[in-house]
Amino acid sequence: MSGDLKLNKIFGAALATALVIIAVPQVAGAIYHREAPEKMGYFVDAPEEAAAGAEAPELAPDWGTVLLTADLAAGEAAFARCQACHTVASGGADGIGPNLYGVLGGPVMHRPGFAYSDAMSTHKAEAPTWGYDEMDQFLTAPARYVPGTKMSFAGLRDTPTRVNLIAYLRSQGSSLAVPAPDPTRQPGAAAPAESAAPVEGEAPAATGADSATGAPVVGAAGQPTTTTSPTAPPAATSEPPGN
Ligand code: HEC
Repeated sequence: MSGDLKLNKIFGAALATALVIIAVPQVAGAIYHREAPEKMGYFVDAPEEAAAGAEAPELAPDWGTVLLTADLAAGEAAFARCQACHTVASGGADGIGPNLYGVLGGPVMHRPGFAYSDAMSTHKAEAPTWGYDEMDQFLTAPARYVPGTKMSFAGLRDTPTRVNLIAYLRSQGSSLAVPAPDPTRQPGAAAPAESAAPVEGEAPAATGADSATGAPVVGAAGQPTTTTSPTAPPAATSEPPGN
């Protein structure tokens, strides 16, 4: 019977091997099971959408700086997106949207013959002029800035594109002056009120010197305000007694 036993062992071993071969993919499948993605293919994140998603408080452009280096040709190219509805040349006709010659710096609803929406006249009551900031906010997200506007345009989320476009609009019949550079809008300038934390690279508030003039700040950080005698006690610098 030893021969049968040997055969049994061989069959047993073969069966076990077969079982393992069958089982391994199942077990592996159970362990490494992956859901099919809802949408096939790679998600390409367009820069405009990326910027839109990050709703971080962005500094408004410093017009006095950015307009000097704006790219008019790129602005004209960006205006292609507006041309379905707008002309911009002097004397151009109104289309789905009003002619935009001279609109920058002009009154909101600058074309008397155009049938603007009620939303736009409501907006005009609050902000009567198309200044740089107003235009910038409108073009960023028209329906957010003027809720109910009939300008059905999603907006331009890319700030350099808007800056170039606004510089181009300025070249089309606008005499809106370029404002002086505004240091509070420079990148790295003191952050807006929401975040009081000091911005990297920015000197903390109490360095003892006025950052604009370089002059010592009165009484800051223990600095004497006047040349006091070295023997004078530090408390008796500038404060009137009893205050
Ligand atoms: C789908 C058509 C359409 C597109 C595209 C479009 N607009 Fe408009 N736009 C309109 C309409 C319609 C109005 C009037 C809105 C209202 O009355 O609410 C308008 C209003 C405006 C106004 C206000 C004009 C005024 O007299 O107060 C400006 C400025 C403007 N558009 C600029 C642009 C720019 C710049 C672009 C391209 C980035 C653009 N629009 C793209 C249709 C469009």
